[in-house]
Amino acid sequence: MPDEPTPERTPETSSVPETMRAARYGRYGGPEVLGVRTVPVPRPGRNEVLVRVHASGVNAVDTLIRSGRMRPVTGFRFPKGIGADFAGEVVARGPGVGVGVGGPDVGARVWGAFFAMWGAATAEYVVAKAREVAPAPEAIGLAEAAALPTVGMIALQGLRTVRARPGRTALVIGAAGGVGTAVLQLARARGLSVTAVTSAANAAQSTRLGAERTVDYATDEPASLGREFDVIVDCHGSGLRAYRQLLRPGGRMVTLAPRGAAAAFTTAVLPGPFVRVQTLRRRRDDLAELAALVNGGELRPVIERTYALDEIADAHRAADTGHASGKRLIRMAGPA
Ligand SMILES: NC(=O)c1ccc[n+]([C@@H]2O[C@H](COP(=O)([O-])OP(=O)(O)OC[C@H]3O[C@@H](n4cnc5c(N)ncnc54)[C@H](OP(=O)(O)O)[C@@H]3O)[C@@H](O)[C@H]2O)c1
Repeated sequence: MPDEPTPERTPETSSVPETMRAARYGRYGGPEVLGVRTVPVPRPGRNEVLVRVHASGVNAVDTLIRSGRMRPVTGFRFPKGIGADFAGEVVARGPGVGVGVGGPDVGARVWGAFFAMWGAATAEYVVAKAREVAPAPEAIGLAEAAALPTVGMIALQGLRTVRARPGRTALVIGAAGGVGTAVLQLARARGLSVTAVTSAANAAQSTRLGAERTVDYATDEPASLGREFDVIVDCHGSGLRAYRQLLRPGGRMVTLAPRGAAAAFTTAVLPGPFVRVQTLRRRRDDLAELAALVNGGELRPVIERTYALDEIADAHRAADTGHASGKRLIRMAGPA
């Protein structure tokens, strides 16, 4: 039975079921706190759309939120939903959508990323602001597309920060995970030559994605590499001071990982090359750029495994390991 208040029905939502299955948790803790509940389908408000979700991506930050490490921000109201990334089709529009400013039509294929702290994208339906969603790429299925919004946007933004330009040399640290596989592909698409830092198990994957060279973080000390990189994009967050020594004069380094933020801030004040911490800006323009890159064959989701909604705890167990060969997806039952 539904355990959340039932929203009022309107003609716009009348063809949508009353209830849906959604990931929920009732306290902070390990992956076992996650479960699936039957809850009312939310109703789109003014300038909002209702999206039938095909899949939702699991991001590293979701596991931090679930564990309670972000509790000063996420608070103590339960049950909570989880998940930032989604892709699906618009099934209803709230008042104001399509009036003046336009907005997606019913039936439009869309994708988007919520602010992760309040995200509840791992559900059969989500309500999003019409300006938060963007047309999903046509070249791939909606279930696959859910692997890209957050990691694709942070990868684009990080590469802009380090001024990735054709002909430059890049070191991508943590190149095998969700963010790293996006950074690696986008750096190659921009004409950089890439050295990928991964575990030995993931080296072949990085080579397939276009890395010219792979470095095993378990056995190869950063100092064994030369001072030969114009840009360094860190997707893991350890060893930043040592990696920074590998920048050529005028080179730039960015960390996308919260684990690397403190080291990056302290490193940035020391004399030496440019170092920055990149935080995510959720931008429709970036979603549009990502869709164009996917449609142009320059970016593909790299998916380690797709889980059923009932397997969400298993997906988080895998994410908690800190190792990955691409993204974990949660696929909703129903959509083809
Ligand atoms: N700033 C933002 O808004 C934003 C947005 C998205 C993600 N992030 C952050 O970006 C980071 C990566 O996210 P993700 O989704 O890519 O995580 P992920 O899918 O879990 O990937 C993490 C990767 O780190 C690699 N790794 C583990 N130990 C390493 C080491 N000692 N040296 C180098 N690499 C190592 C792993 O490689 P192996 O599997 O080969 O061991 C794995 O592929 C996380 O800290 C996440 O919070 C930030």
